[in-house]
Amino acid sequence: ASQTQQPRGALLVVEGGDRCGKTSQCTRLLDALHARGIDARAVKFPDRTSETGKLIDLYLKGAKDVDDHAVHLLFSANRWESMKHIRALLEQGTTLVVDRYAFSGVAYSAAKGLDLEWCKQPDRGLLRPDLVLFLDLDPIAAARRAGYGEERYERVDMQQRVRSNFMSLADGSWKILDASRTVDEIAADVSAAAIAAVEAARSTPLCSDLWC
Ligand code: TYD
Repeated sequence: ASQTQQPRGALLVVEGGDRCGKTSQCTRLLDALHARGIDARAVKFPDRTSETGKLIDLYLKGAKDVDDHAVHLLFSANRWESMKHIRALLEQGTTLVVDRYAFSGVAYSAAKGLDLEWCKQPDRGLLRPDLVLFLDLDPIAAARRAGYGEERYERVDMQQRVRSNFMSLADGSWKILDASRTVDEIAADVSAAAIAAVEAARSTPLCSDLWC
């Protein structure tokens, strides 16, 4: 008898500026997928637990000054370090809800003044997401939210540049969602798009060709 192969999981990325509600939407989405019997797990970038992640954490908390290019490469290395593990999970049928990915990498570094095309290069060849859910929020509205301003990049002018950089990276795999609505309204759109992407991923090969 031939071996039946498990359909692969979907790579679902959630992106947005600071305080856009990304983290709660990731939690809600995981719950919605589990409720439908879909095997799904959370992944978060930066992964602050690895060696590169510890340096990134010090940098983000303002404890360490690092050249912008070097920080950019560190964030990219932090993603590359996880690729083997992520691919293995997807191949075994686990869908991944990824809180930030290479799009944040480019949007934030380019907002600091680095060339956007230069910024894309280190992440070229990462796994290509099946769906990018972009939680779009006006940075002025984001700044009114609790906890804003605690980390390095939380300034409105910076966040305006981050938002326009994100927009310039959007392609057909993106779903841009109005994140000024209620948590429930956003969650409904997020899970509908995610479930469709999980279905579609079953018959689409996994490709390591981001920005190739
Ligand atoms: P994150 O840990 O997601 O913080 P939060 O949950 O508060 O959004 O990200 C921390 C910061 O790092 C955030 O301002 C975005 C930035 N960032 C980059 O500059 N480059 C990257 O590649 C990533 C993944 C995040």
